[in-house]
Amino acid sequence: MSATKILVTGGAGFIGSNFIRHRLEYFPDDLITNLDALTYAGRLENVRDVEERFAGRYAFAKGNIGNAELVAHIFKTQKPDIVVNFAAESHNSRAILHPKVFYETNVLGVQCLLDVARAFGVRRFHHISTCEVYGDLALDSEERFTEGSPCCPRTPYSASKASADMTVRAYHKTFGIPISISNCANNYGPYQFPEKLIPHFTTRAIRKEQLPLYKASKNKREWIHVGDHCRAIDLILERGTIGETYNVGTGVEADIETIANIILGEFTLDQSHKVYVEDRPGHDRRYLLDSSKIRTKLGWVPSISFEDGIRETIHWYKEHEWWWKPLFESLEIREGAWGKEGGK
Ligand SMILES: NC(=O)c1ccc[n+]([C@@H]2O[C@H](COP(=O)([O-])OP(=O)(O)OC[C@H]3O[C@@H](n4cnc5c(N)ncnc54)[C@H](O)[C@@H]3O)[C@@H](O)[C@H]2O)c1
Repeated sequence: MSATKILVTGGAGFIGSNFIRHRLEYFPDDLITNLDALTYAGRLENVRDVEERFAGRYAFAKGNIGNAELVAHIFKTQKPDIVVNFAAESHNSRAILHPKVFYETNVLGVQCLLDVARAFGVRRFHHISTCEVYGDLALDSEERFTEGSPCCPRTPYSASKASADMTVRAYHKTFGIPISISNCANNYGPYQFPEKLIPHFTTRAIRKEQLPLYKASKNKREWIHVGDHCRAIDLILERGTIGETYNVGTGVEADIETIANIILGEFTLDQSHKVYVEDRPGHDRRYLLDSSKIRTKLGWVPSISFEDGIRETIHWYKEHEWWWKPLFESLEIREGAWGKEGGK
């Protein structure tokens, strides 16, 4: 069998680095090039073990997905069969402070990648998207978002991701690019930047600091371990239909209060470690996906329970202080400050 060449973009971030490690481990014929701009969220530490373990099958290129010349050079020299695009600005709170870069990367960057993929040809262009493009649900709603639900984004981040989804679909319809899209629920697991909820609370609890809960602490998310997300992408690449979108979710929801209580429990810290802060503007109440399409058509099922996954993740952060400590000290967003100094 000939090697499959994959261009992974954003592979120095949380999900992309987990995906690269997973593919190289389970698909011995894969060769991967990782194109990443190394923004504040992209770190070579996330793939250091990959470089050592899979030397000869893995290459890194530093650069922006919006740089057409560079992307074309990579296509010319690496000739990827498949593109999996994780590259994005991904933090909702940051999008309130710096919306422009979200549109530059998440929309124009994706459009640039598509243009180059069109010029060189590719077997598959898989775009990683999010449940947030569908907007939010009332806490007591019986509804779940399907792949046919309208895009109703409410934040600059989710609007930029929705714009990217529409652009990817348009390039399929207009130019015949063989695309697929996955819209995934909230991921957690190792190597997630400590600005995101679970690692943020965990790294604060390790330091015995207070956990800042938004006042709307009953707002909830659907949680998926990053390993289950990676397996869903494998199936879409192998058996997914060109032009289709797949929702990827577990159906397991937990609110901010519950996450805080689990983490406090793991560190035997009492309730006085919770502090309630102003919600960030546009704080979505809830997202819940209907994932029956990927389950029935592709046979995907999540394999990691939330209880096991969150404990294992907390343990990872306990064991990897060297990884997160330098980041924790330079976090830009102060969630407690919304409404006063605009989160800065
Ligand atoms: N984290 C989640 O819960 C979640 C859920 C659903 C979908 N997603 C989507 O998955 C993807 C990956 O998310 P993540 O949590 O790993 O994000 P992340 O912020 O950890 O990583 C993003 C990576 O993209 C890189 N990057 C940013 N701008 C770039 C550019 N212009 N050119 C090249 N590289 C660039 C960064 O350096 C970083 O390595 C994103 O598209 C995100 O929207 C995330």
